[in-house]
Amino acid sequence: MLPTQASFPAARPRRLRRTAPLRALVRETTLTVDDLIWPVFVRDGVGLREEVPSMPGVERRSVDLIVEAAAEAADLGIPAICLFPYTDPAFKTERCEEAWNPENLSNRAIRAIKAEVTGIAVMTDIALDPYNINGHDGYVVDGEIVNDETVEALVKMALAQAEAGADILGPSDMMDGRIGAIRTALEAAGKKDVTIMSYAAKYASAFYGPFRDAVGASGALKGDKKTYQMNPANSDEAIRLVARDLAEGADMVMVKPGLPYLDICTRVKETFGAPTFAYQVSGEYAMIEAAARNGWIDGEAAMLESLTAFKRAGCDGILTYFAPRVAGRLQAG
Ligand code: PBG
Repeated sequence: MLPTQASFPAARPRRLRRTAPLRALVRETTLTVDDLIWPVFVRDGVGLREEVPSMPGVERRSVDLIVEAAAEAADLGIPAICLFPYTDPAFKTERCEEAWNPENLSNRAIRAIKAEVTGIAVMTDIALDPYNINGHDGYVVDGEIVNDETVEALVKMALAQAEAGADILGPSDMMDGRIGAIRTALEAAGKKDVTIMSYAAKYASAFYGPFRDAVGASGALKGDKKTYQMNPANSDEAIRLVARDLAEGADMVMVKPGLPYLDICTRVKETFGAPTFAYQVSGEYAMIEAAARNGWIDGEAAMLESLTAFKRAGCDGILTYFAPRVAGRLQAG
């Protein structure tokens, strides 16, 4: 017990929980709209939107509707939107050339948002999986995911995204050396102010399933991602990876998935004091929504509780599919 703590009955902690004003006064953490990054799925076409079956309430949108969504998010005060392309299987190859095509879906969406919407940062994903015929984040050679060749491709992808106007690059591939390589290339290309949010502690998780449906990678993926994503049993390794990525030039770091890894979020924040984000991933969203839609939990309350938990754990912000819904809710008070 802390030395200043009175004992019962001098101390009755319930006194401070008795009324809403008293609870508000002693509240330790607050979720605000400033904490939100909204991941969205981009598809081709015009005026098209379609729901992702395993993520009820989440849609793939064509570029014109992504621009609309970004404008709505900016009006709600959401600071950043993160783009994930649903790529036509015809563009998937072994060399993943579409990844650095300046006219690919993601780069067109960046340009379109930047041309029409102010007041929101655009974040990207850097990994080869949407463009890879194998569904992996890196090149596959003789059944192995090869590191250094993949990093060369990721650098080209990063430069194309920076050129298109991205504010935050999000390497999610878990190859070694990619943050340093991307940072060096950005400096050399005069893109000194483009920020990097490294998916530094990204685990080989069962909670990514619905996302792989959303980007059309589920069918393509052969095997698992355990040779590059982290073992869910590890914690010290996360600290080493965050240290490395910060040393290589990451401006912000991420832990992913979210709720099952709150202990990692806390350790990372306490160890480095760097801007630390968590990704409440597709499977986490799907679990809450599925239970809520069955009437098994109060979805609105579970959404707010889960997002508040990230703040309590020390995160500076959260990537969440709930972003517009929770922002609307916070705005309404
Ligand atoms: C791609 C990527 C994934 C996610 C974000 N970027 C999937 C994966 O690593 O297989 C998952 C996001 C989510 O589940 O919401 N590298």
